[in-house]
Amino acid sequence: MDDRWTDQAVEIADNWPGYALELFTYPEHYHGDVESVYIPHGVIMNRIECLARDILDDLGHDNLMVLCVLKGGYKFCADLVDSVKAQSRSFDHPITTRVEFIRLKSYLNDCATQDLHIIGPEDLSMLTGKNVLIVEAIVDTGKTMKMLLQHVEKFQPRTVRVASLLLKRIPGGATTLPDYVGFIIPNRFVVGYALDYNEYFRDLNHICVISETGKLKYKL
Ligand code: HPA
Ligand code: MG
Repeated sequence: MDDRWTDQAVEIADNWPGYALELFTYPEHYHGDVESVYIPHGVIMNRIECLARDILDDLGHDNLMVLCVLKGGYKFCADLVDSVKAQSRSFDHPITTRVEFIRLKSYLNDCATQDLHIIGPEDLSMLTGKNVLIVEAIVDTGKTMKMLLQHVEKFQPRTVRVASLLLKRIPGGATTLPDYVGFIIPNRFVVGYALDYNEYFRDLNHICVISETGKLKYKL
């Protein structure tokens, strides 16, 4: 792992079992479908404040064009942009933020499929000349991020940075790393905080590990 991250991103150990479910509230319809609370919502929120501070430190007084990667990135993006705006209010000239969206898809059940595609929009000319921050929920193989970066570069933004809430530690994983990472996690399938399993669990606030029952129940 690149040592840029060792003191910045919070690294979760391979043997971290998560917190007992009894310590938290979560929707009744998911009782039995998750095994543990891997990253509680409050911890996510606090980490996002740190990322927002780092982003503002690097950005200086320039304005920010955010490209939110749907669907998984919507919560992270909303909370990150809120935190950037809140912290920039203490500046003499608070920065402006604009958010655009792009939709990608590559997973079926808990496996990456070979064909990842940009569902839309094709035209990203609103990024031209802007300081772009791509906001993603998760980077694992890095293939999606690489493809997206190549696509975004075609529109000649002034700068491009990537923020990912999660980075998975996988063998032969991402070679190009995000500029901002919330948590480095083991190679486990996680859900919640807009991360889905076949479109389920996006409405769970905590990031959780899905149970075998949950996997079977929502399998396609
Ligand atoms: N959970 C949900 N979606 C994902 C994951 C994950 O662990 N990895 C890549 N897409
Ligand atoms: Mg998904």
